[in-house]
Parts: sequence; C-alpha cells; structure tokens
Amino acid sequence: MAKYNQNLCAFILVVVFFSWVLLLHSAETEYVSAVGDPGMRRDGLRVAIESWNQCNEVGQEVPSLGSPRAADCFDIYNTTTAPVFGNSYGLVHKVTEEDNRLGVGDVFLGVQPDALFDVDLYAAGKELYLGSKCQVEDTPNPWQFWMIMLKSGNMDTFNSPCPKNGYKVRSFGPDSRFPCFGKGCMNQPTINHDYTNSEGPNSITLKGRFYGSWDLDADLSKGLVGNISYHSVTWEKEIGKGSWVFHHVLRTSTKYPWLMLYLRSDATHGLSGGYHYPGRGMSKIIPESPNFKVRFTLNVIKGGGQKSQFYLMDMGSCWKNDGRPCDGDVTSDVTRYSEMIINPETKRYCNSDDIRHCPPYHTYPNGTRVYRNDTARFPYAAYHMHCSPGNGEQIELPYAMCDQFSNPQPQEILQILPHPVWGDYGYPTKFGEGWVGDPRTWELDVGRLSQSLYFYQDPGTPPARRQWTSIDLGTEIYKDPDQVAEWTVTDFDIHVPKQRRH
Ligand SMILES: *[C@@H]1O[C@H](CO)[C@@H](O)[C@H](O)[C@H]1NC(C)=O
Ligand SMILES: *[C@@H]1O[C@H](CO)[C@@H](O)[C@H](O)[C@H]1NC(C)=O
Ligand SMILES: *[C@@H]1O[C@H](CO)[C@@H](O)[C@H](O)[C@H]1NC(C)=O
Ligand SMILES: *[C@@H]1O[C@H](CO)[C@@H](O)[C@H](O)[C@H]1NC(C)=O
Repeated sequence: MAKYNQNLCAFILVVVFFSWVLLLHSAETEYVSAVGDPGMRRDGLRVAIESWNQCNEVGQEVPSLGSPRAADCFDIYNTTTAPVFGNSYGLVHKVTEEDNRLGVGDVFLGVQPDALFDVDLYAAGKELYLGSKCQVEDTPNPWQFWMIMLKSGNMDTFNSPCPKNGYKVRSFGPDSRFPCFGKGCMNQPTINHDYTNSEGPNSITLKGRFYGSWDLDADLSKGLVGNISYHSVTWEKEIGKGSWVFHHVLRTSTKYPWLMLYLRSDATHGLSGGYHYPGRGMSKIIPESPNFKVRFTLNVIKGGGQKSQFYLMDMGSCWKNDGRPCDGDVTSDVTRYSEMIINPETKRYCNSDDIRHCPPYHTYPNGTRVYRNDTARFPYAAYHMHCSPGNGEQIELPYAMCDQFSNPQPQEILQILPHPVWGDYGYPTKFGEGWVGDPRTWELDVGRLSQSLYFYQDPGTPPARRQWTSIDLGTEIYKDPDQVAEWTVTDFDIHVPKQRRH
C-alpha cells in the first residue's frame, strides 16, 4: 500500500512537472511577429522612401523629380526552377521607374480627383498606389514595405508656416527656432534610386539604394564632398542567408541644419505616427502596450555630433486627450512620441532645479509612482525632456509646451536617456551602451516600458489604448550644420502575443 502511494505520488509529481514545463514552453511560444518580414530575412525585399517638410507634408515637389514617394519591391526567382532568366537568380521588380517618378498631375490607377492637383494629397495617394504594387498577402493582414523617412526642420514662417496645433496661421517671424535661408527653404530633397540588383562573383549578393540631397545644386556624382546635406540608405543581403543590412548616412549643411532619417515599421493601413493621411507599412499587427517586444541589431558608426538625437527606439502613436483614439481631426488628435536618446553628449533638460521638462511622475516596474517634486527620489537623469500637447486643458504646472508647428496636430513628446531605471525593460542603463564602437543586438520590452511612461490625459478620462502605429530607429540632427551620422540596422522584428481564438 505504502509502495503504491509512493508510486502514485511520483507519478503525480512527474505529471505536474511536465505540465509546468509545457505551460512555460507555450508561454514562451505565445509570441508571433507583428511585421511582414520578421528579422528582415526575406530575399524578396519591400522597401519605400518618403520625405516630409516641417509640416509633415510635401509643400512643393522638386521640379521633374515627382512626388517624394518611391519604392523598391521585387520578387526573386531561382532560375534552376524558372529558367527564363540569364543569371542563376532573377529579380522581378514590381515598381517601375515611371511609377516612382509620378508627380502631381500624373494620373495613376486609383488617384482621387481632389488629390490629382494637390501636392500633399497626391503624395499620400501615391504611397497607397506604391503599396498596392508591393503588397504581400499574409495573415492576419497583408503588408507592403519598410519605410525610410526623411524630414527637414526648415520652416519659412514669412511665407508658408505650418499649422499651429492643427490650426492654420498667418505668416510671422522672424523666429529663431526654425532654420530658413529664405524663400524655398522648405524644399524636398532629390531622391536618386539604384534599383536592387544582384552583384558579386556568383551574383548571390543583392544590393540597392536611395540617396540624394536637400541642396538641389549639389553634384552627387563625386560622392559625399563639400558642405552639402546628404541622405543615403543602402540595403544589402546575401541570397538565402541572414538579414538585410540597412546602411544609413545623414549629413546636415549650413542651409539644412535640422534633418531626420528613420527606418520605420509603420501600420499597413490607417494612420501612422505623425502622418495624418492613411499610409502603408510593415506592421501587419499594431503593437499595443504593455505586451510587445522589439528586437534588432544596431551598429552606430558615426554619431552625428552633439545635437544628434539618436533614437534607440522611436515610437509614435495618436490618441485624444480624453483617451479616445485619433480620427483625423487635427485639432483634437494628439501625436504621442517616445524615444530613448543614446548619444552620450546629449544635454539634459529635466533636472531638479527646473522640473518643467520632467514628466509629472515616474512609475517604477512595481507600480510605485514618484513625483518630480520629490527631489530625493525622482530619477531626473533618466529623462531628457517631456513636453505637453498644445491643446491640453488641465496640464500640471509648471510645464513646457511641445513645438506647435512640426506635426499636423498637437503633439506630446517624452524622451528618455540610458539609466538604471530602464534596465528592467532591457534598455541601456548607462551612456555608451549601444553607441559608436559598441554594436549590439537589443531585445527591448518596449510594450511594458511604454505602458509605464507618463502621457497627458484630461483628469478623470479612461486611459487610452497605447497602440504604436510607428516603431522606428534613426537620428534627428537638431540644428547643427556640417555633421555626419552613419549606422546600420539588421534583424529588426516586433513580437506580440499570439491572439487567442474565442
Ligand atoms: C564646411 O563648413 C565648415 C563651417 O562653415 C568648415 O569648417 C568646413 O571646413 C567645411 N567643410 C568642407 C568640406 O568644405
Ligand atoms: C536554388 O536552387 C538550387 C538547385 O535546386 C539550390 O541548390 C539552391 O539552394 C536554391 N537557392 C535558394 C536560395 O533557394
Ligand atoms: C518599488 O520599486 C522602487 C524602486 O526600485 C523601490 O524604491 C520601492 O521600495 C518599491 N516599492 C515596493 C512597494 O516594493
Ligand atoms: C508634489 O506634487 C504632487 C503632485 O502634483 C502634489 O500632490 C504634492 O503636494 C507635491 N508635494 C510637494 C512637497 O510640493
């Protein structure tokens, strides 16, 4: 009898142990990729480029270069199975040069009549059109492309100021916050395109590129020489192996001292961070706080100077101050951004002597909140700055207002810095980590971190769902001419919990 009981006990223990192992195992495998091309491993690449002026619009096209939207999307065939091509591999491009050169007034399939002669609406429509050519069918949603985003911070306040908190304004100035060398300073850059091609001895290396300059008279045939602004993204991959390597270069010039270059995983439909038109992208599932992780390898080669706000992770979302999701009404929608700046030379605005630039409180992983007036306990060094949305009605004093012009709607920004308080989420805990000379593969618990961050809402309103329609990496060189940043991104992926069937 005793023997039998012992055996039964042992049996139960074994069963319990294995169910526990199974549970753990299934808990680990509950995650799926939210992006169309997990880890950037798909040979048949989908990549696009977009360029914005300070208002996140086009404003004016560069003559004869078309609307600043272009894409490089292709399928690849192994010619041993499809022997119609000369090489061992054949690339079939989905977007023609004619598509990429489309500019305002040119008709394309699906163009809306009101967009045909409006440069801003035209670019938004062109993005959808390029998306339709690049689209890959998938579950739960089709997806289109990685998005390279360019932006210049120049603003001509005398001639074409951007809307202020979503409202049109009259010309004003001078305003030293915004660089401008005179009429035309808000121009779009040139965008040259080397279509992806196979090169190398056995033609197993694929390579392509977008590059150009905001200085329209720059001669790029000699490469990157002289004091000119410059942007370049090269993508390269060996067929059947590893990840695409996206190699970025951004250079500012005297005329264009405030430039941005990001690689984005945007929503595949609807709005994405900072853009008030429906767009196309790579995130076939929108990651939502607190349950998602972001994984990538980042190698910063050149930092871009003291003012280079290199974002280890830049995320964009949108919700109204009463917690409702955005609906395109630029006067009540609020873009919400959060970024960690990893440049060790970054100046810190939040400190105990000037709490305006700090969020009202910090929340620890265990839920404990510490107010910014608690000088003994608030982690000031963890914050670069917080700024409040221009349409917030009950913002806690004292506060700093966000730039009211650089987004089509009001915005709120919370920028953090490497610090031990972020270690629990897998983020850098001290300056230098992940910076020049320290390439790393990161697995960031962006979901849990972004859930803990402070964002403004009207008191008493239900908390907004924090759905991040844009997850990007890159730098913003903030008003500093003659600086060069250079970096590579590989293996990018976003992991979300697998949806349970009900
Ligand atoms: C660019 O301009 C800066 C300052 O105006 C100057 O110091 C630098 O030598 C120039 N560089 C080149 C390559 O012309
Ligand atoms: C292409 O086909 C050859 C012959 O079947 C095979 O050995 C090779 O692995 C294939 N390459 C890829 C990338 O699928
Ligand atoms: C929560 O975490 C903070 C920071 O680590 C710590 O100071 C505090 O005592 C913790 N609170 C509780 C209730 O565990
Ligand atoms: C600190 O700020 C909180 C929240 O605004 C407030 O309730 C508290 O009274 C303040 N404490 C001090 C000592 O000022």
